[in-house]
Amino acid sequence: MPYETIIVEHRGPVALITLNRPKALNALSDQLVTDLGNAVDAAEADDNVGAIVITGSEKAFAAGADIKEMAGFSYMDVYKANFITAKWERVAKCRKPVIAAVAGYALGGGCELAMMCDFILAGDNAKFGQPEITIGTIPGAGGTQRLTRFVGKSKAMEMCLTGRNMDAAEAERAGLVSRIVPVAELVDEAVKVAERIAKLSRPIVMMAKESVNKAYETTLTEGVTFERRLFHSTFATEDQKEGMAAFAEKRQPDWKNR
Ligand code: CAA
Repeated sequence: MPYETIIVEHRGPVALITLNRPKALNALSDQLVTDLGNAVDAAEADDNVGAIVITGSEKAFAAGADIKEMAGFSYMDVYKANFITAKWERVAKCRKPVIAAVAGYALGGGCELAMMCDFILAGDNAKFGQPEITIGTIPGAGGTQRLTRFVGKSKAMEMCLTGRNMDAAEAERAGLVSRIVPVAELVDEAVKVAERIAKLSRPIVMMAKESVNKAYETTLTEGVTFERRLFHSTFATEDQKEGMAAFAEKRQPDWKNR
């Protein structure tokens, strides 16, 4: 399906979604968020897709929600539409793995979108920030909540109160990104990592993702119990039998995704 504000390519089992509003530094307009949601729906429904990569340009992953579009909104406009989170959460709710490949600016909603993905690979020129405070508002797509969980209160508070950006090195030290890649290699590396995940057992990958995500939603005791129950349920799958048999027989597993 052609989209107005994103480009979707399939590289083997990976759906690569490129945000494509270069003149606005990929500002997340309503159209872009709608296109992105539709692309995630399509990738999730497509059995040929095992993982998704979301990226932007070398200059900007996304410079935030579209300020020009929202500047005139009234309280009733945003309240009735449940702006901004409702539509944006589509990425966070995706059950297939989603990697953010972030080069350049990931500011405001751009940083929030990256944090909705399962993990972030950063180009060495990446800059992360929540500058909403400098334009008279606060993060509205999870920034105060997810950033705090990623980097802790002190750094999250400083960033949300001052609007200061973090560069890639600081973001890696703080645990916001899984690792840094030279910007010219970023997308290929992200696709390579996504491909590696996509070639594993799909249901087992989904269970691992669900279990890690649970760590953000519950107590340690409940999380560990949840993990154990999912671990037990892997023993009801053909892929657990295949994976362990293949190990014992010193061969590659032939995943059935069952
Ligand atoms: N919304 C709309 N347009 C944007 C935009 C945004 N968030 N960010 C950049 N643009 C536009 C600029 O207006 C400019 O358009 P024109 O050429 O038509 O003037 C174009 O993109 C290029 O931007 P700059 O000329 O500003 O580029 P720069 O290299 O000088 O600066 C920047 C880059 C530091 C990222 C700067 O553009 C900037 O500060 N952008 C805004 C960042 C921001 O405040 N983001 C938070 C938005 S609010 C939000 O996201 C709420 C939420 O929680 C969901």
